[in-house]
Amino acid sequence: MNKKTVITILALVCTLTLHAENKPWMNKNLPIRERVNSLLDQMTVKEMIAELNLVPYYAEQDSAFRAAVAKGRVGAVLKASGTALNRSLQKLALKNNHLSIPLMFHEDVIHGYKTISPIPLAEACSWDTAMVRRSAAVAAKEAAAAGLQLTYAPMLDISVDPRWGRIMETSGEDPFLASAMARARTLGFQGGSLSSPFTVMACIKHFAGYASLTAGRDYLYTDFSQRQLEERYLPPYRAAIAAGAGSVMCSYTSFNGIPATFSRFLNHDVLRDELHFDGLLMTDWCTLSNAITEGASPDGRTSAERGIKCGIEMDMTSHRFIDNLEDLVNSGAVSKDIIREAAFHALEAKFKVGLFDDPYLYFNEKREKEVIGSEEIRQACLDMATESMVLLQNKNDVLPLSTDKKIAVVGPFAEQQEMLMGKWTAKGDASKVITVAAGMREAAAHVSVGASDYRTPADSCTACYDAAQSADVVIVCLGEHTGYIGEATSTARISLPNNQLKLLDKLYQSGKKIVVVLFNGRPLQTDFILAHCDALLEAWYPGTMGGRAVANLLMGKAVPSGKLCQTFPRESGQIPIFYNMYRTFGNIRHLDIADGPQFPFGFGLSYNKYGYSNMSVSTNSAAIGTPITVSVDITNKGSREGREVVQLYVKDIIATVVPKLKELKAFRSVTLSPGETKTVSFTLDDDAFKILNDEMKWTVEKGDFEIQVGCDSEHVLTKKIHLGD
Ligand code: BGC
Repeated sequence: MNKKTVITILALVCTLTLHAENKPWMNKNLPIRERVNSLLDQMTVKEMIAELNLVPYYAEQDSAFRAAVAKGRVGAVLKASGTALNRSLQKLALKNNHLSIPLMFHEDVIHGYKTISPIPLAEACSWDTAMVRRSAAVAAKEAAAAGLQLTYAPMLDISVDPRWGRIMETSGEDPFLASAMARARTLGFQGGSLSSPFTVMACIKHFAGYASLTAGRDYLYTDFSQRQLEERYLPPYRAAIAAGAGSVMCSYTSFNGIPATFSRFLNHDVLRDELHFDGLLMTDWCTLSNAITEGASPDGRTSAERGIKCGIEMDMTSHRFIDNLEDLVNSGAVSKDIIREAAFHALEAKFKVGLFDDPYLYFNEKREKEVIGSEEIRQACLDMATESMVLLQNKNDVLPLSTDKKIAVVGPFAEQQEMLMGKWTAKGDASKVITVAAGMREAAAHVSVGASDYRTPADSCTACYDAAQSADVVIVCLGEHTGYIGEATSTARISLPNNQLKLLDKLYQSGKKIVVVLFNGRPLQTDFILAHCDALLEAWYPGTMGGRAVANLLMGKAVPSGKLCQTFPRESGQIPIFYNMYRTFGNIRHLDIADGPQFPFGFGLSYNKYGYSNMSVSTNSAAIGTPITVSVDITNKGSREGREVVQLYVKDIIATVVPKLKELKAFRSVTLSPGETKTVSFTLDDDAFKILNDEMKWTVEKGDFEIQVGCDSEHVLTKKIHLGD
């Protein structure tokens, strides 16, 4: 090292030391809480309020956005990604901020940033928390490499209404399974360290009860009980918060007539006191303004006052905080302490993700190039897609197909790229999506393709019929247009459009073997499809690697193992229909259709049959609090290695309130070679037997319980136990 270099290094160390002395919040060695407080001590109320302002970036309004940053009016940014853009915005912010406060960049990375994994509803059908965690981790890796530090995910709503377009973002109807997914995704996104440039902070949403929208219509009102809040909506939040979720987004909807944004009960009593959340709480898009439109607030000033007093800390896009809070503080209506507390959490998030230690940590062009679309990420998406798909029918074991068969791949989704990604696809790169046609060409020798367009009338799908003509088996790729799923979408029908059903009918009439592959974001009515095909594979929207996953499953390179996380109704008139309903004294079924769902919760076929036998429980009668061990033997009666998801349900036989029909309390995947038997054991603690009693307390009541173990919610072995003193 020459003299000049030594002098330069010494000068740098001196500058940093001085910097840290003048600005203790820049001192890495101090605890974050102390750093944030020392920073807040230097800030004006105006500066604190700016930290609460979350502003969207639109390229067409670039100069207005930069002007706002330069004026110190932007605390965090959404919809800006890419290292080059975010670096330039960061540079501008720091140049204009005497306290060295960096910007933080948020985005909706729901199931991938550029490389897209299956939609969340699909991922939950894997019942594989390790795989889902990995999927979130690779999404975080790509997102962080693109300059982002926070994702508005995982979405933790639980819906029992497939008409709602956002059901695709959920993890299904069951609080236990959804909680497992909530935990897995939170851990996946946030990794071992939030300040790593490979992880992002999770923002769990939408707090709370959004999914209880009336008639499944997005943005329509909600009206649900506190019991439903506790039993159905809060469990995934509890799980994600326990896993360390850094931030929460409130819901568009109301609880008990009060918009979530103004609900001190939800945002304080429940979120802070009951769930012990101590991170950042933000609004959803413009909710402070929406309250005015829906008549729950006269103006922006009132919205800002009510919002901040009810626990909201960051305003997404409405400007109501930045426009009104300073004046509200000056007039004495809002205390400086409330502002400081909100700014504390907003700044703390920036410290946690490492931005104060290196504001450019996430803007590394080389890393961006290496990480995005890497083989590691594509492989994780492929594995996830393979495990997400659910085999719903396989008459006479038509699947898997043998390679010598002549196969036609037809229909509107045969060569789809864009729509295979589903919705909420961030910067999803459609050009990288492997279509079903491409996947099948990789996997089989004799493949002809005849794609149609989504709106092509059945009579005009000539390419489909031509391709099918000389084939032994026709793979018909059908599905929902992605315009019908996602936010601001709802449908009254849950069936495929007529042109697709007619196309299927015509192909079926030709007498060929028909395999339908479905691409969709909600449970669909499948009666017509089932009657017109030999096999049906529910592929959901499987993402970038979708076509390869479909081909691997159809050709037997992989064995289907997904199980439904959402009940499939026979018709939309049965909605809401779900497995864990409350019991009743009778069951007045709909008289005009067959009873029960088309496919129950937990259902999914394999190429193997799995036998369940020798169920045993460690005791028939025990004191409350004694752990109960349940064991069952699972035998692979098929000829391939495969994974079976073993499900355990508990039925509370008599309680002081009306109990549920049954509730999922444990599940486990077991991989078995042909002919192999393994014993699967579960240990159930108190939580498995708790019920929300008439005083709204979670408690185990003495009495009899039925423990059920099986391959889905309807096919189970049972044992009764008694819990008492
Ligand atoms: C959605 C949120 C989303 C936000 C930002 C809102 O309309 O409800 O889920 O995170 O927009 O894009």
